[in-house]
Amino acid sequence: MRSATLVCALVLAGIHGAHAQGYPTRPVTLVVPFAAGGPVDAVARILSIPMGQALGQGVLVDYTVGAAGTLGVGRVARASPDGYTLSIGHWSTHVINAAIYPLQYDVLKDLDPVGMICANPLMVVARSSFPAKDLTELIAWLKANPDKASVGTAGVGSGSHMGGVYFQSATGTKVQYIPYKGTGPAMQDLLAGRLDFMVDQASNSLPQVRGGKIKAYAVTAKTRLSAAPEIPTVDEAGLTGLYVSVWFGIWAPKGTPRDIVAKLNAAMVSALADPAVRQRLSDLGQEIAPRDQQTPEALAAFHKAEAEKWWPLVKAAGIKPE
Ligand code: MLT
Repeated sequence: MRSATLVCALVLAGIHGAHAQGYPTRPVTLVVPFAAGGPVDAVARILSIPMGQALGQGVLVDYTVGAAGTLGVGRVARASPDGYTLSIGHWSTHVINAAIYPLQYDVLKDLDPVGMICANPLMVVARSSFPAKDLTELIAWLKANPDKASVGTAGVGSGSHMGGVYFQSATGTKVQYIPYKGTGPAMQDLLAGRLDFMVDQASNSLPQVRGGKIKAYAVTAKTRLSAAPEIPTVDEAGLTGLYVSVWFGIWAPKGTPRDIVAKLNAAMVSALADPAVRQRLSDLGQEIAPRDQQTPEALAAFHKAEAEKWWPLVKAAGIKPE
């Protein structure tokens, strides 16, 4: 009986160990939960080619958009746990949404962390023709014109929406949110002057700020971005303490074999060590996660801590889906 149990255990161990041997035999899909052209898409595209090279198979960027990223994350939570469908997302998609939406999946229990990628602050930006020349003037304008400014977001609970909510509460102002399927399309309307301002991820706004196409008032960080040292921090611009950092990660469906998760993590780590990838991310104002934070275990611990920190705050704020 004991030897039968031993044989059984060895067979199972063999099967388990064999998961990653042939993996991957076909392309891996990275599901972006927002529209193309926005911050998550940018990170996914920067990583997809080097990760595919490390895996020996293509990494395809695919989009399932809507409801602030909940549809895309839900697609991966329900996918087969075989390493071929992955979720890329961030602070709002994998933490905040769970405190706002009645989700059909559990962000902590239905996904296995692969690794943390990077983080970027938000940036308060306006259309180039907006009258305010700095943050103080923006706040004064908003106070004089309550409910008049149109603010683009990627939907209730998205990074840009949470930034707007935090900004309104810190400044005692009222704005009108205009939801999009991502801040890629919202940025197009800001550029065209159809929106007034956004509290947008730095990585989305920075290329347009550099091109002189929109105005930047402040970054929601304690220190200036090395990629844009000319833009003041919120503290310097007069809005002390409005810090928000949007951190990014990759997850697989719950139950993905550990050796497959390890292969995916190794591919992500090797992509993040590539100097060209590092340069592209840092040009966008993204700070790459330190190597010891790139492990599945570190992402699991950080993800849980972020949920414990933010869920009570978001629930207390009473933010409801549209
Ligand atoms: C996007 O990729 O469109 C964003 O990450 C949206 C957001 O959270 O504001």
